[in-house]
Parts: sequence; C-alpha cells; structure tokens
Amino acid sequence: MERFGFIVHPLDVRRDVARRFRLLSRLPLRWLDFLSGYFPPVYLWHVTGIRTAQLVEAEGWLVACPLTPRAMTQFPLRRVYRQIIRAGQLAERLGAGIVGLGALTSAVGDAGETVARALNVPVTTGNSYTVAVTCLSVQAIAQSMGKPLGDLCVAVLGGTGSIGSACARLLCRKVGHLRVVGRDANAVQQLVHALGAVASGTVSGATDLTALRDADIVVSATNSAGPLIRPQHLRPGAAVYDLALPPDVSAAVREMGLNVAVYSGGDVIVPGTPDFGINFGLPPGHAYACMAETIALALEGRYESYTLGRTIAPERVLTICTIAERHGFRPAPLRVRGELVEVPSCAGVV
Ligand SMILES: NC(=O)c1ccc[n+]([C@@H]2O[C@H](COP(=O)([O-])OP(=O)(O)OC[C@H]3O[C@@H](n4cnc5c(N)ncnc54)[C@H](OP(=O)(O)O)[C@@H]3O)[C@@H](O)[C@H]2O)c1
Repeated sequence: MERFGFIVHPLDVRRDVARRFRLLSRLPLRWLDFLSGYFPPVYLWHVTGIRTAQLVEAEGWLVACPLTPRAMTQFPLRRVYRQIIRAGQLAERLGAGIVGLGALTSAVGDAGETVARALNVPVTTGNSYTVAVTCLSVQAIAQSMGKPLGDLCVAVLGGTGSIGSACARLLCRKVGHLRVVGRDANAVQQLVHALGAVASGTVSGATDLTALRDADIVVSATNSAGPLIRPQHLRPGAAVYDLALPPDVSAAVREMGLNVAVYSGGDVIVPGTPDFGINFGLPPGHAYACMAETIALALEGRYESYTLGRTIAPERVLTICTIAERHGFRPAPLRVRGELVEVPSCAGVV
C-alpha cells in the first residue's frame, strides 16, 4: 500500500470552517483570518479506495492548514510557512510517504521549497500535472469550438506565475495568438520576449484585465485571494478554464448567464473508487490535478520532491502526465452545451 498526504486550506472560509467548527465560523471574517495564523492543523480524512488496473493501491490523509486565502497572501511569510509546515508534519505523523501542497499552500513564497526542507518526506506542489491537464483541456475546448488552436487567441491570466508561465510556454507553440496577462509589467514583457522566440503564432502581453476581451479562451491561474474576472472582461462566446483556487471567475459571470463557458480547472478522474470524504466541489471520485500528481507519484513509488519552485520543465510535465495516465488518471471530460468532450491523451501535451 502506497501512502500520501495532502494539505488543503479553507477556500470559502465560512463554509469550510463551519464543516468542523460551526460556532467559530460565525465570527467576523477578519477574526477568522487572524486566528487562522495560530490555529493548529486539522486532520480531515483518511482517503481509501484508490486502486489501479495493475492492482496498485494507495491510501492518504487529508490535512487542513487553517490559513484563509487572505491570511495566506497577507501574513508575513514566516508565519505562513510555519502553518503549512505544521500541517505537513501532521501528515507525516499519520504515515504519508509524500506530501502534496493544495491550492495556495503551493503558490506562496518559494512554491514549496522551504516547506520541503522542513519535512522528512518529499513534497510536491502538483503543478506539473496541473499544467498538463490545463494544456490538454485547452485543446479540448478548441475542439468544442470547432476551430484549430492555430486560429484562436488564448490569454493566460496570472501568466507570469508558476503554472501560468509553464502553460504559456507550451500553448504558445500551438495557438494563433498567445496573450500573457500579469501584474508586473517587466515580468510580462520579459516572458513575451522569451516566448516570441519559440511561438508558432504571435505573442503579446498586458497588465490590464480588459486585455482578456480579445481572447477566445482564457486560462486563469492567479494566486488572488478573491475573484478578479468580471463580465466586462470577457467577450461573448469565450471560454474560461479557471484553475485558480480560490476561483478567479466572479459569481457575476456565471449568474449573468452570459454566452461564456466557465470550466473548473484541474478536474481529474482518479482510478478505483476513491473516498475523499470532503466535498471539493468536484464529482465523487474526482480530485484536483495537484492532488492527482501527489497520488500518482505514490502509486508509481516515486517518493521524490517532483515539483518544487516556480520553474516547471516541459519534460516533467510530460513525464508526470504519462505516469498518471498509465495508472488510470484522466482529465475529466468537459461538459459543453450538454455534451461531454473528451480531453486528449498526454501525447499531445508538449
Ligand atoms: N485546480 C488545480 O488543480 C490547481 C492545482 C494547483 C494550483 N492551483 C491554483 O492555481 C493558482 C496558481 O498557482 P501558481 O502556483 O502558479 O501560483 P503563482 O506562481 O503564485 O502565480 C500566480 C500568479 O498570479 C499573478 N496574479 C495575482 N493577482 C493578479 C492579478 N490581479 N492580475 C494578474 N495576475 C495576478 C501573480 O502575480 P505576481 O507575480 O505579481 O504576484 C502570479 O504571477 C493558485 O490559485 C493555485 O491555488 C490549482
């Protein structure tokens, strides 16, 4: 039996805190942000039922780092690391042979490196497989639009980040126009320049969300504590693959019933009949790609810090995608106008 641990944290703070601490969840949000910097990690669930066609099995432990998204992005890094490390140590004590970092626990600071140094077991951010699943899903979205990627404009919001920049590097070799949208104008320009040398089409950059209006497909991958994309940022007929946790797409986009398709990014079907215990907002038996990477590494017996830091090599993306595919993981098909569109296999990822 292979063993993994996975760290999650509250994303919808009131809802997630209320699952375990009903009274606490009634406190003002600012108090919850503050307290989350001191609260101990919480053991959530013993994951069972993961089993591959080759009969390899894995079990795991879900552990909550109490930090809220606002605390994660605004508290001093030392405190944030301390809280994530405490959660990792709990996963270790429960028996994990590798620990995966969920949502913003992998995006803060040096993207897992400090946490990995403090634990006795390997750590992975899960970002390599997240990049693979995202790039393959973008291909499926293009197919659902009935157009080759070479005819489409794809924008990556959070495009200078770890996942965003790796997606931009892979997608710019396939799309007609790639637009990098980030906060830091210098970082955006540097990336645009680097991508220009390898892109099959054209590349541009922007620091304003209105630049998303030109895009047929938006990949959204920021580390924002709250939603950013509003109806005025999107054109009718566009699709958004929102892999940010918490999500980047505002409720207004969904509620206005715009002619815009929004997909929850990183949705992966896990082999066997897994019981994840808590509702991540995905169908039963599905996990986010970052967790899927952690489980796939355990099933493969590769107890190593596979993805750490902000640079993700394309070879690593292809390798983890191949490992995951071999063990029976697959990106969930996309629901497009009531029809299911399959996501292509790993072969086309790089
Ligand atoms: N769905 C899944 O399976 C899955 C798996 C793993 C991670 N995730 C999520 O993916 C997201 C990205 O993770 P990551 O590791 O790539 O994080 P990251 O390296 O911190 O990158 C995030 C990027 O977003 C940018 N950003 C923040 N606010 C912005 C804004 N208002 N406008 C434009 N850009 C903005 C940041 O800019 P600065 O550089 O200026 O800060 C940074 O470059 C996180 O939300 C994480 O939780 C999801």
